[in-house]
Amino acid sequence: MYPDYEKYFIKFKKGGQSSLFDNPEFQKHITENVMNSLNAIFDNLDKEDKLKEILNTIATNHSKRNVKKQQYETLGKVILEVVKRGLKESYTTELETSWTKIITCAMEHMGNIAGEK
Ligand code: HEM
Repeated sequence: MYPDYEKYFIKFKKGGQSSLFDNPEFQKHITENVMNSLNAIFDNLDKEDKLKEILNTIATNHSKRNVKKQQYETLGKVILEVVKRGLKESYTTELETSWTKIITCAMEHMGNIAGEK
């Protein structure tokens, strides 16, 4: 993890762990909150209005935390790398193209709302 990003997750730093990833509360946050939002994005790919609403809500909520365009771009790259490593040989060129298109588009949309630093 980019150590710089740890500063955003003040709430999870209280556990005293050397890395955020060792904090069970942070793990729960990723597996529940973040993964649920990603699922909602994928579930609504064919519903443009709903999809925009989901992305706008995430971006607006995160703007209050000062999350900017660059951080969405970085997270997008991380997500794609995790999927690639997780699917291993099942990660076909076709899947890579689709995942890249969806994640890049979602991160760009949220990043444009968030704006540059
Ligand atoms: C695909 C992109 C992202 C998704 C789907 C996502 C999802 C979520 C969700 C569902 C929450 C809890 C609800 C809320 O408080 O808004 C949350 C909280 C949070 N997110 Fe994100 N997030 C994303 C990107 C980012 C990025 C790029 C950062 C910054 C590095 C970030 C930092 C945070 C922080 C600091 C919290 C609050 C944690 C707490 O103190 O409870 N998120 N995120």
